[in-house]
Amino acid sequence: MYGDTSIQKPMKIAEPTSEEQAKLEARFQQMVDDDIKIEPQDWMPDAYRKTLVRQMSQHAHSEVIGMQPEGNWLTRAPSLRRKVILLAKIQDEGGHGLYIYSAAETLGTSREDMCKALRDGKAKYSSIFNYPALTWADIGTIGWLVDGAAITNQVALSKGSYGPYCRAMIRICKEESFHQRQGYELLLSLSKGTAEQKAMLQDSVNRFWWPSLMMFGPNDADSPHSAQSMKWKIKKKSNDQLRQEFIDATVPQAEFLGITLPDPDLKWNEERGHYDYGEIDWEEFAHVIKGNGPCNKQRAAAYTKAHEDGAWVREAANAYAAKHAAQAAE
Ligand SMILES: [Fe+2]
Ligand SMILES: [Fe+2]
Repeated sequence: MYGDTSIQKPMKIAEPTSEEQAKLEARFQQMVDDDIKIEPQDWMPDAYRKTLVRQMSQHAHSEVIGMQPEGNWLTRAPSLRRKVILLAKIQDEGGHGLYIYSAAETLGTSREDMCKALRDGKAKYSSIFNYPALTWADIGTIGWLVDGAAITNQVALSKGSYGPYCRAMIRICKEESFHQRQGYELLLSLSKGTAEQKAMLQDSVNRFWWPSLMMFGPNDADSPHSAQSMKWKIKKKSNDQLRQEFIDATVPQAEFLGITLPDPDLKWNEERGHYDYGEIDWEEFAHVIKGNGPCNKQRAAAYTKAHEDGAWVREAANAYAAKHAAQAAE
């Protein structure tokens, strides 16, 4: 039945002795070390399962909430071509959410429970989606920087240890590259436009640059769970490594657009072979994560409203499924 939330929970067998537990853990870690994907039926430590459920549900929520700032511009896209592209992109994001919820359900948590946690304000999503899309240029910047940062993250995730998550990431990354390119192409048009369009482009990048860098999370020194996640290969690269990768790839693209990035400390470091960059405003990051960003309340309200507005669809689907189940039982 559509609304049936009874997901098969991992079978409870008798508790293993501590010796058996140690053997199971060692075998699990060996599989991870040997790059053998962990599959739903495999034994896994409870903390590994919990960490994955938290991370994957947070990821799925980000895909779904991320539809809001862009959806805001669908009726105002400047041409039919732009509207079609934006519509396709937003639909992809909804699909990414469903894909990742399905992958997370293989760990024994239902999508309904995960979504309820989001409605109840108990689950988080990426801080970036609490910033508004104020101008049309923001649609391009979101594709270029936000999807660009997401790809950097997700390519690393696709090489992780949990099979269903990795496989979802491979497909999603292909779509994300389209998202990144449509954004960059939009900005490229603006960069060749009027002085007003160029100014709109620069203003948009000024607002989105730092929040995009925050998408990679706190500095490694302040990221307490990272070491365990790296050992389990849930994470393949550290927050700072990924952030650096993103910056190194993005700066030349900004130069090609003829814009400046709002960081006076940003410069190529010949010795390191990377760009140096300034300090991120971690206070702002904490502020947004705690629910006090510019759009946190608006995003939560829109999400809950969409759920409530969809109640009749769920009821109808359940009634339909019940009717067919009754017919089949006759
Ligand atoms: Fe996505
Ligand atoms: Fe995307």
